[in-house]
Amino acid sequence: MESLLIKNGDIVTAIDQLNADIYIENGLIQAIGKDLDFSADRQIDAQGHYVFPGAIDAHVHLELPVMDTVSADDFETGTAAGIAGGTTSIIDFVTPNRGQSLLGALHERKDAARKAVSDYAFHMAVIGFDPHTAQEMEQCVINEGIPSFKTFLAYKETIGIEDQALIEVMKTAKKLGALVTSHCENGDLIPELQKQLIDVGKTDPQYHAQSRPSFIEEEGTHKAITFARTVGVPLYIVHVTCREAVETIIKARAAGQTVFGETCPQYLLLDDSVYDKPGFQSAAYVMSPPIRPKGHQKSLWEALKAGQIQTVATDHCPFQLHGQKDMGKDDFRNIPNGAAGIENRLALMYTYGVLEQKLTLKQFVEVNSTRPAQLFGMYPQKGTICAGADADLVIWNPDTENTISAKTCHHRCDTSIFEGFQTKGAPTWVIVNGKVQWDEGNLNVERGAGRYIHRNPGSSL
Ligand code: URP
Ligand code: ZN
Ligand code: ZN
Repeated sequence: MESLLIKNGDIVTAIDQLNADIYIENGLIQAIGKDLDFSADRQIDAQGHYVFPGAIDAHVHLELPVMDTVSADDFETGTAAGIAGGTTSIIDFVTPNRGQSLLGALHERKDAARKAVSDYAFHMAVIGFDPHTAQEMEQCVINEGIPSFKTFLAYKETIGIEDQALIEVMKTAKKLGALVTSHCENGDLIPELQKQLIDVGKTDPQYHAQSRPSFIEEEGTHKAITFARTVGVPLYIVHVTCREAVETIIKARAAGQTVFGETCPQYLLLDDSVYDKPGFQSAAYVMSPPIRPKGHQKSLWEALKAGQIQTVATDHCPFQLHGQKDMGKDDFRNIPNGAAGIENRLALMYTYGVLEQKLTLKQFVEVNSTRPAQLFGMYPQKGTICAGADADLVIWNPDTENTISAKTCHHRCDTSIFEGFQTKGAPTWVIVNGKVQWDEGNLNVERGAGRYIHRNPGSSL
């Protein structure tokens, strides 16, 4: 395997910053220091660049089957788009059908993921609790390296979980030292609001947002936190979007509960004026929870800065506007939910977070890489830069300017929810397991080169 010497980079981790060289061999970081003198197959001059640990996207949905269609990026194209933007590992989901065994569903998902070009892992969704579930959860943690379980309070008609099952999942996770994660929107109230809107002919995409107001996320957040408190188990809340949910999390943390929160660039940077776009265009922004009115974004930034929200993921789940989203042109309930973002996360968080002083450089590394690695049991193999760690690195030019467009992104989607956003800062080189896979604008990825990440129970619980 090619050896690599990176000279004079400004290395940034969640706790440190120093100008030094990095020597890589056999896919691992072998040495870090000043004036390293190794003869390597390739040398990169990183003068004027930052060197970050590869970003980890802990929330993506590649080739996710939804409503008789499948999210547009498969494991190959989705992970390739990630690499183009500096994301070197992903965590996707296994979501069993009702009655299907967790391990059976995992087997199918592993098959699909074999074509990934970067390393990948799965959270296991638990949608019900039968006499085999506890034992299967144990096998996930012990044999399969899956120490995180996803529960959906929304989507009651398909994959949503009932209260008693949620309690059992939490109790089992507690025994196993695993982390429960929750999509927090009340799954009984949303259909009620949807029906009220549809009954009066409000079928356009913008009504998707009206059917899922922030008080419904607040209720879901409070409910999941209350369940976790009762059982005495840590909780990770995915895609936090609104002030009320942030306040609920902060209150629980202040009372001593172990609660973590994740948000996404779309909730930090967009507001609900996106639903005013003409015709069917606003369907591109149909996701759950929806984009919130102006004001909520400030709460999210402040919580991120204060460490009350710990991670930024993308919830990357693209559907083509033409050919997929238009399944719902007569009824917003039939629009497949989700949007693309995996390629854009770092540039957006750098431009609108670091450069606007909403995050320090170290916090930027922390929320995009280190905390996901710690919480989901990959640290320090991933999530930092140290001798012995996987050589997943982003060599970042802080001066590169770009304008985001669906036309130039590598993901498979005909629209970008960040179309026209100006960014400053981009990866010049991205190294995955010691190989330069993004090389000054060229993607050199290999189908199937990604490895399954066998994770341990998270180290920060
Ligand atoms: O709209 C979204 N977020 N689609 C993906 C599924 C989910 O709830 O995360
Ligand atoms: Zn969700
Ligand atoms: Zn999601």
